[in-house]
Formats: sequence, C-alpha cells, structure tokens
Amino acid sequence: MTTLSKERLPLPPGSLGLPIVGEMISYLRDPGRFIEQRQQRYGTIFKTHLFGQKTVVLIGAEASRFLFANEGKVLSMTNPLSFEVLLGAGSIGMKTGISHQNLRKQLAQAFQPRAIAGYVCTMAEITRSYLHKWESLGTLTWYPELKKYTLDVASKLLVGVDAGSDENLEKVYETWAQGLLSIPIRFPRSKFDRAVHAREQLLTKIDQVIHQRQQNPSSQQDVLGILLQARDEQGNHLSLEEVKDNVLGLLVAGHETLTSALTSLCLLLAQHPEVLQAARAEQEQLGFIEPLTQEHLKQMTYLDQVLKEVLRLTPPVVRSGDRKVLESCELSGYLIPKGWNVFYQIQETHQDSNVYIKPERFDPQRFAPERAEDKKFSYIPFGGGIRECLGKEFARLEMKLFAALLIREYEWKLLPGQNIERVLLPFSRPHDGLKVKFWRRC
Ligand code: HEM
Repeated sequence: MTTLSKERLPLPPGSLGLPIVGEMISYLRDPGRFIEQRQQRYGTIFKTHLFGQKTVVLIGAEASRFLFANEGKVLSMTNPLSFEVLLGAGSIGMKTGISHQNLRKQLAQAFQPRAIAGYVCTMAEITRSYLHKWESLGTLTWYPELKKYTLDVASKLLVGVDAGSDENLEKVYETWAQGLLSIPIRFPRSKFDRAVHAREQLLTKIDQVIHQRQQNPSSQQDVLGILLQARDEQGNHLSLEEVKDNVLGLLVAGHETLTSALTSLCLLLAQHPEVLQAARAEQEQLGFIEPLTQEHLKQMTYLDQVLKEVLRLTPPVVRSGDRKVLESCELSGYLIPKGWNVFYQIQETHQDSNVYIKPERFDPQRFAPERAEDKKFSYIPFGGGIRECLGKEFARLEMKLFAALLIREYEWKLLPGQNIERVLLPFSRPHDGLKVKFWRRC
C-alpha cells in the first residue's frame, strides 16, 4: 500500500480527550478500568491521548504480532520524560537501533544458560533464609517482604553485593519507582523531585560497588563484570554513566517484576487449595531431593503450568512501553499515523476468550499438553520481538525455585479484613500487600 493510500484509511475509533492532558487523568485514576471500558466500546485497537501523546492501544495476538514485527523498522521505543530522567540515557530501555542491539548482546551474556545454571545454588540459599525468617515472624505482609527477597537475589547475582535487607535501600527504591508515573516537573518535595534524589542516592551506591570492583577485579561473570569489560564494535568501553544506568535498570527490572509475580503466586495458591495440593503431590512424587538442581526443576512440569498460568492471569507488566510510529502504517484496516505512539496491552491480550477457555479462571491445566492454550503472540508476559525480556530465564528460574521450596515445606493462609484488589501500575500488586499467617508444615 502506498503512503498516500494508507493516509486515506480511517483512524482507529476512540477519543483524544481534552486538549493537552488528553485522557491521562482517567487513565491514571484506574488504568485497568480505563482499558476495559474502551475495549468494550471500541474493540481491540483504539486511539487515546496519554503522557502528552496521541496514542493507539493494541490488544490481542494480531496486534502484538504487528508490533513485534515492526519494532526497529517503522516503530521505535520511546519513553515518557519521567522514565528518561529516572532510568538514565545510557539504559537499554532508552537505546534504539544499533546501540540497542550492541548493548543487548553484551547484557545477554549474563543470561546465557550456563550463567543461569550457576545461579541456582545462591538463589536457593537466599530463598531458604527468607522462608526461615517468615516462619519466625508467623504473620507478615508478603509483598514488601518479597521485595526485600528479590532485591537480595538480584543484588547478589547481578552485581555481587549483599543487599542484606537494607531497609533504607528499599525505601529509596520505593521513592524512585513512585516517580515513574509522576508528572515530570521538579519542584521541591514533589514526587518527581524526590524520585530524582532517590536515583542520585542509588547511583552513588552503585558507584561505590563499581569502585570496589575496580580496586579488586574479580573473574566474576555477573552483569557488573560483563558491563565493565563490555566493548562496542569499535572496541570502545561503555561509559561509566552507561554502566551505572544499566545496573540500576536491571536491578529494578529484576526485582519489581519478580516481586509482583511471586506475590500473585502466593495469593492464587492460597485461593486455590486444589492447585496447591496438586503441585505438592508432584513434589512428593519426585522426592524432596537436595540440593536442588536445574535437572530436578525441569522435572516439575505441573509446577511449570502453575507458574505459566500465574503470569497469564496476573502479568506483572500489564502493558508494554510506548513505541513511536516512524512511518504511517496499516493495521486491521486502520491508519496508524506517523508521529503517534503505540503500545500493546499484555493483561487484556491474556484475556482473549477466542484463545483461552474461561480466561478469567485460574486454571493451570490450560497449559497441559492436551490443551496447550498458549498460542504464539497470545501469551506474552515477557513481551516479544527484539525487545523481549532479557531476564526471562532468570525470572523463570527464581519463580520455580521459590515455588518448589515454599510448597514443599510451608503453609500460609490469608488474614481476614484486607483489600486484595490488584493495583496495576507501575507493577501489579495486591492493594494491602497480602497479609498472611505463615508456618512450617508438620
Ligand atoms: C523487558 C516482563 C523479569 C530484564 C521486558 C518486557 C516485559 C518484561 C513485558 C518488554 C517490555 C516492552 O516491550 O516494552 C518481565 C516479567 C518478569 C521480568 C514479567 C518477571 C516475571 C526480568 C528480570 C530481568 C529483566 C529478572 C533482569 C534481571 C529486562 C530487560 C528488558 C526487559 C533488560 C528490556 C529488553 C530490551 O529493551 O531489549 N520484561 N520481566 N526482566 N526485561 Fe523483563
């Protein structure tokens, strides 16, 4: 189709809302409802105006296939100003084209199968120490505890540092993350201003770690080691700023998402005792072999289905980042105009009743070989295409290892009188953080 004939196509249905603010206020008030209402009214491709940009929202397999196929060609990653400032210009999320490809190649080394296999022992050790801690607490709010746990794992395995449940570090992270969806204007004590300060504090910490590593170079092939040695095609090192931005980005990507996934796992298993029982029966049948290895984990096929279903029903990242449309294109008979933004909605793509039987139900059997409902482009918790999640094998390993150790030895029960409604942004989580009673099985 020529550019001229494309321009004659209709725009997707929808509303651009008010001048300047567009539909941002209703979006931020309740992003889940915002998307749901518009999908009901307009279908799976609709226009809106968010973060100061005319935007097309994409839902479903055809739309995600379109985005993955066109990424880096007529679509290119773009970020709201708050993300640019808080993640930093050197971070992989900000890079496009050849510099994205090069950096991705370097970072991918830390997630190769051999590197992943080397993480099992440390992950199991940290997991056990947290399970013991929760047992001694008796009752706990799990989401903040899981945040400490995943941050400890990420800090240790990605940068070789014992975060050691540093309460202050966790608070600084929280302030930083709160800034992601704030209005990026700096006035004293505004959310954004506090987040920028938090970023500076985090970078200072990372700086200290880098300095220590430079003083005592080790052969450690963690992300930090790889980034410090990385060179581009011309043989140039990454700048210190680039190294710091990516360490920060990976620590955040590597713990916020996993915290969300593990919290959902714990909640869904508490709500579905029959699934917990079946997962436990599989563990018992395999025998509680120690130490756990990747080979043992591979045999836990029912647990795989459970974890897959957790990521389908409650994806930690409910929507992708924005892509800028570099050239007008066509999707399902609509014009996707040059200069607009697009993003794909993971949450709603996972609710397609043409693909998933009773999609609103937690049903791990949908991923059993005889049903195999995970059709390509309809199951996208880790995104896809050239920006597919770099840490997905790391995430799968941590989820599985955590789940196996948890269900073998522990019980938990939801405490009454709490709000477990999901808050979706920036990462999906239960409103009150999941309060539970926790004890060791007899
Ligand atoms: C990208 C999800 C864990 C590192 C992504 C994307 C999604 C995602 C949906 C694509 C976003 C887009 O296209 O706009 C998840 C989920 C996780 C998880 C659900 C856990 C359950 C991790 C971990 C790490 C990580 C553990 C690293 C330690 C990254 C990076 C990218 C990414 C670096 C950007 C890749 C690029 O731009 O080329 N993730 N992620 N993620 N993820 Fe993850």
